[in-house]
Amino acid sequence: MKVIRDVASLRAELETLGRVGLVPTMGGLHRGHLACIEALRPSGLPRAVSIFVNPLQFGPGEDWQRYPRSTEADLALCEAAGVAFVFVPEAGEFYPPGFQTRVLPGPLASRWEGACRPAHFEGVLTVLARLFGLIRPTLVAFGEKDFQQLRVVQHLAEDLALGCKVLGVETVRDDDGVALSTRNAYLTPSTRPLARRLVEALAAARATFVQGVRAVNAVQNQVDEVLGAQAGGAALHDGHGASSAIERLDYAAIVDPETLEPWPEDRPLRADARCLIAAYVGGARLIDNAALGLGPDLEAFAVTSAHS
Ligand code: PAF
Repeated sequence: MKVIRDVASLRAELETLGRVGLVPTMGGLHRGHLACIEALRPSGLPRAVSIFVNPLQFGPGEDWQRYPRSTEADLALCEAAGVAFVFVPEAGEFYPPGFQTRVLPGPLASRWEGACRPAHFEGVLTVLARLFGLIRPTLVAFGEKDFQQLRVVQHLAEDLALGCKVLGVETVRDDDGVALSTRNAYLTPSTRPLARRLVEALAAARATFVQGVRAVNAVQNQVDEVLGAQAGGAALHDGHGASSAIERLDYAAIVDPETLEPWPEDRPLRADARCLIAAYVGGARLIDNAALGLGPDLEAFAVTSAHS
C-alpha cells in the first residue's frame, strides 16, 4: 500500500492505476469506514482512501483542533483492508496558495446540519469537488450515518457531472447500539450511556411505525419522549439529575428521504421516511438516523425500563 502526501505523487500513482474507488475520510478510522472500503470491493477497482481533516467544514469554535487524529493506526487499518493507496495531504498541499473557489450546496443542505453548522456543507462540497477532481474516482462510498451529507454529495456528483457514482453504506453500530463515529472518542464511561439515547429514540420510532402508526406526530412524540428534550431547548431531567440528560438537542425530525423536508402532517408515513437526530452528549455532538420501516433491526436497542 502506498502512502501519498503530495499532489504530484498522487498524479503519478493514478497514471499507473487508472480509475479507482474512493472512501474520503477525516481519519480516526473505525468499522464504519472499513464497511465503506468493503462496499467498493465488488467493483473490482483499486481502492483508495483519503485522510484529511478539512478545515473548511468546521465552524469557529468547533472541534477542528481537537478532532481525533490517528494516522498511523489508520494506515495500518487501510493496509489490512487491502487499500491500494492512502492520500494524506497537509492543508497547504491540498489547498495550494491562491485557492479561492467554494462550492455552494442547494436546498437539501439548508435544514438540519446545514442550519446548525453554517458553511459546513459548503466546506464539505468544496473539499470533495477538489478531491474528486484530483483522484477522478469512478465510485465513492459514504456512510449513511451522515445521511444529509450523503444526499448532498449525491447531488454534487450529479449536478456537476463529476463522473462518479456515490454509494451509501449502512451505519455500523457498537454493541450498545451507538452509531460508530470518530467523535465517540469524546465520550467517557459516564456519558456513553447517554449517547445510547439517540438509537433508543430511533428504535422507538421504528417500533411505533411497525405497530402500524402512520401519523407523523405520533411517531415524533415517541422520539421526543425518549430524548427527553425539545429541539433547541434545555435538557429535561429524567429523574436521575442533570448529568443523565442530553445536554442539547439540535434536532430530532422525521423527514422525506428525498427532499429532507419535514414529513407533512397530513401525509401517512412511508417505510422510507427517515428520522434524523443531532444532540450534544458529554461535550460531543453526535448525529444518527434511520428509516422508519427499512434497514437493520433496531429492536435490541429499544429503551429499557431503567430510564423509561
Ligand atoms: O464525513 C466526513 O468524514 C467528511 O465530511 C468528508 C466527507 C471526508 C469530507 O471532509
